[in-house]
Amino acid sequence: MKILIPGSFDPPTNGHIDVIKRCSKVFDDVLVGVIVNPSKNSLFATETRELMLTEIFTDTNNVSIKTFEGLLVDFAKNNEVQAIVKGLRAMTDFDYEFQMAQMNSNLADFETIFVPASPEYGYVSSSMVKEINSYGGDVSKLVPENVLKRMNNV
Ligand code: PNS
Repeated sequence: MKILIPGSFDPPTNGHIDVIKRCSKVFDDVLVGVIVNPSKNSLFATETRELMLTEIFTDTNNVSIKTFEGLLVDFAKNNEVQAIVKGLRAMTDFDYEFQMAQMNSNLADFETIFVPASPEYGYVSSSMVKEINSYGGDVSKLVPENVLKRMNNV
């Protein structure tokens, strides 16, 4: 089964990496979709977010990374995925993700599968990582090495 894990990945965190790795053990084929220009306040360019993920999963044969623009369901259809997978950290994620899952199902009959974040990453988010780093805080336990290097060079 081929699944799609979409997101902004600005930047990819250890929480994202954990969900992608776990999915790569359960599903045959994992496509990671990096949305183009998630917001005006993006820390990293689309190409950099894509490159960081590509570096991390270079040795994982069934994980591939692509960027996308427009509707998620169109990208999913064009890439012949069977379902969308979203990581859920806590109930605070649930309302919005549930609404998006129902909308995507309504738009194009796509199933969304929710995967719970591992407890050690339940509190990690890209926005908090960016904020902590911008004030000089230590994010070395929250992001992979290649992301940390780039964050310190931004
Ligand atoms: O990592 P994020 O920012 O939570 O990812 C959000 C993302 C990219 C999954 C979401 O914004 C999305 O699906 N955008 C594509 C546009 C779209 O299809 N919108 C309708 C969703 S119901």
